[in-house]
Amino acid sequence: MRGIQVTEYVKGPLDLKIVDLPTPSPVHDQYLIEIHSAGTNFFDLLQIQGKYQHQPPLPWISGAEFAGTILATPTAVKSPRYKVGDRVFGASQGAYATHILAPERVLLPVPQGWSFEDAAGLFVTAPTSYGGLVQRANIQSGDWVLVHAAAGGVGLAAVQIAKAKGATVIATAGTERKRQIAKEFGADYVIDYRKKSWPEEVKALCKQNRSGNGKAGVDIVYDPVGMIDQSLKCVAWNARLLVIGFAAGQIEKVALNRVLLKNVSLVGLHWGQYANFEKETVPVVWNGIFDLISEGKFRGTAFRDESFVGLESVPRALKALGSRDTWGKVVVKIIDDVAPPSRTASKL
Ligand SMILES: NC(=O)c1ccc[n+]([C@@H]2O[C@H](COP(=O)([O-])OP(=O)(O)OC[C@H]3O[C@@H](n4cnc5c(N)ncnc54)[C@H](OP(=O)(O)O)[C@@H]3O)[C@@H](O)[C@H]2O)c1
Repeated sequence: MRGIQVTEYVKGPLDLKIVDLPTPSPVHDQYLIEIHSAGTNFFDLLQIQGKYQHQPPLPWISGAEFAGTILATPTAVKSPRYKVGDRVFGASQGAYATHILAPERVLLPVPQGWSFEDAAGLFVTAPTSYGGLVQRANIQSGDWVLVHAAAGGVGLAAVQIAKAKGATVIATAGTERKRQIAKEFGADYVIDYRKKSWPEEVKALCKQNRSGNGKAGVDIVYDPVGMIDQSLKCVAWNARLLVIGFAAGQIEKVALNRVLLKNVSLVGLHWGQYANFEKETVPVVWNGIFDLISEGKFRGTAFRDESFVGLESVPRALKALGSRDTWGKVVVKIIDDVAPPSRTASKL
């Protein structure tokens, strides 16, 4: 097999090297998978520089999200859920490679009709946004939802899920191209949040188009950036503000008097920890996502303005991701597959 192995921390993605390694054999609880596509994440960039919270002992293969086919089943699992040839997606250390070993708990079936490219970007973003909006913010039909960084990975998932649940979506993004993408994925209104006056624009939209308490602002804020304090200026009575991430690089301080005065809730979500602290919710969330896919209400968000084909293009893909110019999920086609034709989903 070939993989991008990190033997010492690097300054940036362009310093990464591909090496030949022995292809692993399936072990007692792990499948051997041939990777067709790998999804990139900002934490990959941090990890190769030694700056991430999870740093395995050197050497290791970088990358986390992948989609591919099962080559061999675990040797000690009596009735494995997947068989040789099945198409799966998931996440485990070592996705920037031609092959990977992974246990069943981190694998899901590629939805029917989905390309490996789109499936490789599903494992982190879709459940984060579904878990946030549905489990944590209790989204209801008729709600108005403000999605920040709406053309980013979790943002585009949030736009689609909010629309599928019958909400009106105001999407923010920093460039015209990203606002156009947010609209293509279903946003009703788009706003440039690089303008300081953006909370006024949200308020004006709600004042013009909503009634009752809704005239004051939105019911839900989905925030992967670190914009809760500003967003408190344009929320309705009883609003829920979802703390998803800090893409802007700073952990915010929030004026709590506004939380009291507006009778709102600040709600955190840490999707990765559901597997440890709330296992029973994980299939509930995935079944909800698979339902939306089979109803045609959720589609893949792979970035298509530029293509990344072959392991050799991982450094370029990571550089593009770090530049903030991409949208959706930046995915590398490790193998250059052609997308399958139909679009239905299989449930868990
Ligand atoms: N809570 C959870 O369980 C969970 C799960 C997954 C991800 N996250 C977090 O959610 C955040 C977004 O993840 P993602 O996968 O959507 O990332 P992404 O695809 O890279 O999108 C992030 C977006 O943030 C915006 N942004 C604002 N300030 C930025 C800055 N200084 N540098 C870079 N981008 C900036 C950019 O949009 P504009 O250019 O339009 O401003 C960018 O498109 C990350 O912080 C991630 O760690 C949390």
